[in-house]
Amino acid sequence: DILLTVDTSRLERAKDAGVLQSVDSDVLEARIPASLQDADNQWFGFSQRARIIFYDKADVPNPPATYVDLADPAYKGQVCHRSSSNVYSQTLLSSIIENHGEEAAKDWAKGVVENFARDPQGGDTDQLRGLVSGECDISISNTYYFARSVRKDVDGLPAEARANIGWVFPAQNGEGAHMNLSGGGVAANAPNKENAIKFMEYLASDQAQQYFSAGNDEYPAVPGVAISPSVATLGLFRPDDVDLTKVAKNVPMAQKIFNEVGWK
Ligand SMILES: [Fe+2]
Repeated sequence: DILLTVDTSRLERAKDAGVLQSVDSDVLEARIPASLQDADNQWFGFSQRARIIFYDKADVPNPPATYVDLADPAYKGQVCHRSSSNVYSQTLLSSIIENHGEEAAKDWAKGVVENFARDPQGGDTDQLRGLVSGECDISISNTYYFARSVRKDVDGLPAEARANIGWVFPAQNGEGAHMNLSGGGVAANAPNKENAIKFMEYLASDQAQQYFSAGNDEYPAVPGVAISPSVATLGLFRPDDVDLTKVAKNVPMAQKIFNEVGWK
């Protein structure tokens, strides 16, 4: 009855493919901020994450302050990121296209490739592990991967190693930290549409918001719901409030740029 997934690019792809249907719910309309829901009410965000810069405090005295800085030749041979086939990479570059334009986005991607410490590989936890192993000095990862390692044991990220990792919420004097979400919508052919809507309304309740976001180590979607202790470790920041639906439309262009600059 319901498709639950992560990343607005995926939710938009589902919408374009006719997998979802519009939902008429005063509860969802009132509870979920407008920026976290589809304009046609085909999907709603239930929790949020930021994609931020982590770095080895011993090796990087002046960490990048913005996404754009990641392409600075000063960081040659230091940067780790996952592959361009991954949706997180695609949505991040799509947001840079939206905020800075196609030309700047291409220059950025080219510069980051030139700064790579290794070929793109692994998931976001592997980027953090790269800081611990010494292979990477600067890594980009979603906030919940780090927060999870605070909440419970994650292989390769023990507390003593984590103590050497610093982080930067990028572009705090500019567009803000790149955000994405976990969310979902009602399936176009849902046999139990009414209950599906009730379940989504429940996910937007204070109680469900708290345990859903805490369980994912994410930020709640509904304003005023408490942030879990592991997530609170990262501190407060200013999010990029760019329209993620617009960002998702840039994914084909982002993929083209990745191919052109040789981001594997
Ligand atoms: Fe993830």
